[in-house]
Amino acid sequence: MAEKEPIGVIGVGWVGLVTAACFADLGHEVYARDVIQEKVDSLTRGEVPIHEPGLAELVRKNAARLHFTTDMDEVLENAHLLFCCVDTPPTYSGDADLSRVEKVVEEIGDSTDHAIVMKSTVPVGTGRAIARKRVDVGYVSCPEFLKEGSAVTDFMHPDRVVVGADEGSEEFGKRVAALYEPLEAPIVMTDVASAEMVKLASNAFLATKISFINEIANVSEELGADVQEVAKGMGLDERIGSQFLRAGIGYGGSCFPKDVSALKQLAGNTGYHFQLLTAVIEVNELQKRRTIGKLQKHLGSLVGKEIALLGVAFKPDTDDVREATALVLAARLQGEGAHVRVYDPVAIENARDMLGGASIAGSALEAIDGADAAVLVTEWSEFAELDWNEVRGRMRQAVLIDGRNYLPRETLEAAGFAYEGVGR
Ligand code: UDX
Repeated sequence: MAEKEPIGVIGVGWVGLVTAACFADLGHEVYARDVIQEKVDSLTRGEVPIHEPGLAELVRKNAARLHFTTDMDEVLENAHLLFCCVDTPPTYSGDADLSRVEKVVEEIGDSTDHAIVMKSTVPVGTGRAIARKRVDVGYVSCPEFLKEGSAVTDFMHPDRVVVGADEGSEEFGKRVAALYEPLEAPIVMTDVASAEMVKLASNAFLATKISFINEIANVSEELGADVQEVAKGMGLDERIGSQFLRAGIGYGGSCFPKDVSALKQLAGNTGYHFQLLTAVIEVNELQKRRTIGKLQKHLGSLVGKEIALLGVAFKPDTDDVREATALVLAARLQGEGAHVRVYDPVAIENARDMLGGASIAGSALEAIDGADAAVLVTEWSEFAELDWNEVRGRMRQAVLIDGRNYLPRETLEAAGFAYEGVGR
């Protein structure tokens, strides 16, 4: 069997660690570099600081092929394809902050043997700008489409792999594509700018789908339709597809809010007003706040009311609270004069400093004890298993806002709850 190409990973955050562990599992020697010594030390000991199903097992299983280091030279000596996985957080202007990417490019130095393989989400045009400045180093765009909570499975079973390479880097592009061949997924070979655009456009389209179904939900509430039935009927049309049609209290996370803003901003920088994305963002913001109106409908003024928020993570099976709806809700509810209690089985520590004066509960039952209303924000499976008669007995008033249409409505109504889903 041909020797597998060693690879470098620069930036061992969530994307970098998943990339490193999965390539190691495919049989590659992986040289993964991070600037934080403690992180490198704990990963070398097999300790994984991220809540991602299957990842810790993969890191430990492939420990012999995973070389964590703070030393860039060690990576450059051992690998020629360098996957850049550093953060590109949004700046105040809505543009992406590329300072970490630029630093990595700087550190790689001059070499015709090496190629930067960009996994970090960057604005369209970044690759060409880097390649113009650094003609000696190869450049390949290879955007990631991993979902938190299923990143390892997504890596191993991608819908597609996109590889963008311009003139001069085509050979590196082919080598990157070869790494993914064992996964037997369609590989789209294209130019760098198009590859960059695939990433932003895909996330913007998915966010659009969610905002669209959320608006259908809001109108359905007024017109007496049930959005879940509507989504089922729509989703069977193959042109539409059934995924990402779950109405709820808005999307969050580290990607959708950031990437939708980045694409809108990028268009704006060229003088183009991307009207659709402006609406997608606004619908999402309003969707989070609609919960306040639903609570007021049942409780009147929220001053002095005890409100339980179930779930803080932006979605289940992750401890990520970036752009999480619960943070906005906790702040808005406190602004309305309510007392807020918050519970999350995994993510609460990451949210502790962002919850203002809200109190933190150690269990769902502790959060709802004596509450006037509960809002299900994140569909953690343990919430579906609650004994609703017991919950009802513990609450001061039985109002339940199901922000994800996740709970058994009939059971709740039978237990005496005033139940409100989204779009039903
Ligand atoms: C997303 C993209 O799916 C992934 O391809 C990209 O690489 C990173 O961004 P992720 O942020 O992990 O992944 O979460 P995802 O599962 O896509 O959910 C994003 C948000 O949308 C969550 O807040 C989720 O609750 C919400 N959502 C999703 C809905 O409200 N309705 C849906 O139907 C689907």
